[in-house]
Amino acid sequence: MALPNLFRSSNKRKARPAPPEPAQKMRLALPDMFQQAANPSQASDLPRFSASAADQPHRRDDRFGAARMKLRNAYTPSQPVFDRRMFAGRLNVLKAAIRSIEDQRLHLVIYGERGIGKTSLLHMLTAAAREARYIVVYSSCGAASNFDETFRAVAADIPLLFHSDYSPTTEEAETGTSLASLLPTRKVLPRQFGDLCTKLTGTRVLIVLDEFDRAESLEFRRDLAELIKILSDRSVRVQLVIAGVAADLAELVEHIPSVRRNILAIPVPLMSAEEIGELVTNGERTAGITITPTARDHVVAISVGSPYIASLLCHHAALDAIDDQRLDVMPADVASALEQALGELATRISKTTMGQVKRLVNESGTELLSLIASASLAGSGEFDSALLDAKAGTPTRAARCKSIVAELAAQQILIHERDDGFGKRYAFIEDAVPTYLWFLAARQTFREDDVAPQRVRVR
Ligand SMILES: Nc1ncnc2c1ncn2[C@@H]1O[C@H](COP(=O)(O)OP(=O)(O)O)[C@@H](O)[C@H]1O
Ligand SMILES: [Mg+2]
Repeated sequence: MALPNLFRSSNKRKARPAPPEPAQKMRLALPDMFQQAANPSQASDLPRFSASAADQPHRRDDRFGAARMKLRNAYTPSQPVFDRRMFAGRLNVLKAAIRSIEDQRLHLVIYGERGIGKTSLLHMLTAAAREARYIVVYSSCGAASNFDETFRAVAADIPLLFHSDYSPTTEEAETGTSLASLLPTRKVLPRQFGDLCTKLTGTRVLIVLDEFDRAESLEFRRDLAELIKILSDRSVRVQLVIAGVAADLAELVEHIPSVRRNILAIPVPLMSAEEIGELVTNGERTAGITITPTARDHVVAISVGSPYIASLLCHHAALDAIDDQRLDVMPADVASALEQALGELATRISKTTMGQVKRLVNESGTELLSLIASASLAGSGEFDSALLDAKAGTPTRAARCKSIVAELAAQQILIHERDDGFGKRYAFIEDAVPTYLWFLAARQTFREDDVAPQRVRVR
């Protein structure tokens, strides 16, 4: 079947302008092999880097080269947002976090799915805290994280001059020594770190532990729970902010039911359509490009509230437009971005699972599967029959979705089931699968409809 215009036009790339001639001297002085390397124009069919390592486009008058460079800071799907100007929405979450730190002196647990924007939010929170002169220590956990290493590093970032036993004029304080110098050489225990914290004066410290779900050690969790308990029992000037995916954090709080009232758990929800719109606009402004209203509608609809997906689509779509020597991003570019995103997602899904996905799509089509996927996306990974009802729209479709889910879960194909006493809850076994299924359905709608935006809608 021939593809509609939408897909064909996105593949049509104009030839790039020829790169400048290399210096004659170079050509004479180097043997053949090196001449080839020094002269990219001789291999002009091969893809080239578009800018030098010093971030300069190859030609000063190359406005597309310049736009491409600006685009790198505009949509950063593989990196959290560091720049305030690129941070969209989330005002309520940020406000709630700041208030609970400042007015209630609580420890925070910030949770949500991968890609929902936790790290970006933490960057904004830590910037605001630094502005208020908090000492902020940010640490990203890894599989092997343990209490000793993590909190020794934290102590190394807190100057000794804030310890009540060391006035700012003492030699140790003046030489820039840190709290780490007071820790024992043996493994640091929560009590020892907690004791040090009680001695802090004249400042406040925010310890941010991001990606906490990656830490595998149970002992680390137990130690951290104990530290929160110690800090909460005494009035100290140190607060913890722990971020990660939900299940692991619930487990953390389970270790210390007695301190639940000292911890506030803040979920990071999906973004509203307006917030995604703001993300798109921020990027347009930074990159100096325009995303047409229809293309923007597609991005908002396909991303279903995920800043990661919106950022990924805008990034690929804008690159596509620039490759095509345009500064306006059109629906065709979004369609092509979707293709690239599908390709990228596919590499993150195991071979066995991909086989199961393909078989299922062949058997059942994408419509019901995409409804199930959208329930999973809306539920931050987990969904139940109520969420399926809400997404399916009609009782017949809901019943068909539920029967597919029950059957897959029973056979442990793609979906697993758990019952926490409040009814059955489901989740896709591999977390890239719901997005992949959702994208497949969006592509289908693009193809059927030749880009009528109202057909690709948030369900
Ligand atoms: N508020 C936001 N404004 C703009 N882009 C965002 C926002 N939150 C997240 N993003 C984008 O979404 C992606 C995932 O964000 P990240 O903070 O790394 O999520 P998480 O830490 O939850 O996995 C990144 O590409 C980031 O650029
Ligand atoms: Mg993160």
